[in-house]
Amino acid sequence: MIPIGIRFAPGVVALSLLGVSFPAGAQTAGPAARTVAKSSAASEPEFTPPAADAIPEGEFGKMVRKGQDIFLRTSEHAGQYVGNGMNCVSCHIDAGRRKNASPLWAAYVLYPAYRAKNGHVNTLAERLQGCFRYSMNGAMPPADSETIVALESYMYWLAKGAPTGVKLAGQGFKSLPPPAQKADYTRGQKVFQENCVLCHAANGQGQSADGHMVFPALWGDDSYNWGAGMHSVATAAAFIKANMPLSKGYSLTDQQAWDVAYFMNAHDRPQDPRFEGSVEETRKKYHDSSSDLYGQTINGKVLGAGATPAGGTLRKQ
Ligand code: HEC
Ligand code: HEC
Repeated sequence: MIPIGIRFAPGVVALSLLGVSFPAGAQTAGPAARTVAKSSAASEPEFTPPAADAIPEGEFGKMVRKGQDIFLRTSEHAGQYVGNGMNCVSCHIDAGRRKNASPLWAAYVLYPAYRAKNGHVNTLAERLQGCFRYSMNGAMPPADSETIVALESYMYWLAKGAPTGVKLAGQGFKSLPPPAQKADYTRGQKVFQENCVLCHAANGQGQSADGHMVFPALWGDDSYNWGAGMHSVATAAAFIKANMPLSKGYSLTDQQAWDVAYFMNAHDRPQDPRFEGSVEETRKKYHDSSSDLYGQTINGKVLGAGATPAGGTLRKQ
């Protein structure tokens, strides 16, 4: 992991946190081992993706590298589909390798799959299109575009040797048990000030260096939109517990993770692209859950009512 001492030298921070040296870190220590063994605890098989330096040469390898580049620096390599300051790696930590940060190798083997979100069986391509539409607040690349082919190639390569149709240990985000005390804005604000502002800034807008977002925005126009999975307090709490503060996963208590997730998602962000014309209608149709703050009134404001339209200013038009 990155020693705290070099974290604030902007050049180094930009490179390591944008994933350039990240994937070459701890993960490359061993051989390109592909272990598929039963984990006794959860009976979900363990899996280790190939080392980052094991991408093959040739045309296929080129496409895998292109997918990795898109994943690490999304607006630079697929900017026409990106409407915020995020990269895929902003949430899928360590170049999409980290367990409990929705790793790509675990996702690859689970598609096609039925999704309640849109009520039909989704191919992997459609799943990836959704990431651009919601998490990246952007536009959907065509299913046969090079962007999707490259991402699928990268995922396929990371999953080399994994069993298909099996939930692998570390897939997705590990949900937390319901909080002992109802998640709370004021307590969450305190957790935020003590543990998050260092990187994500006091206004939650993150920090960039050399034109790259290094510490991504937690809310506002440069963040994920109201249709993204991370806008659910439960999903955000699960992500934060395992992965934040960066390199200090599992240091917050469950309660702190719930509180800070609530605080974060109690701020406005770009509109849900499925907006039905009114926040009430949109909430009824897509956000009818207690873990979902869209359309709720917090600090006198209806969340979603002041949201900027989805899509942002799509970069590199
Ligand atoms: C703001 C955080 C965030 C960003 C940015 C993001 N994702 Fe995700 N991603 C999530 C969350 C949260 C989920 C789980 C959503 C759910 O099902 O509730 C997810 C799910 C996925 C899945 C399915 C995982 C599985 O196991 O089924 C894939 C594949 C994926 N994302 C790829 C991408 C790609 C590619 C990008 C960039 C184009 C991207 N994501 C950007 C947060 C993010
Ligand atoms: C040491 C710096 C650091 C600290 C402290 C930190 N983060 Fe992060 N956080 C990051 C980085 C860097 C990323 C993106 C990961 C990447 O690009 O590799 C990130 C990503 C995220 C994301 C997903 C992307 C987004 O912007 O929505 C969330 C949510 C998040 N952090 C929440 C938090 C919360 C809540 C805290 C405090 C409990 C926290 N972080 C503390 C550095 C930090």
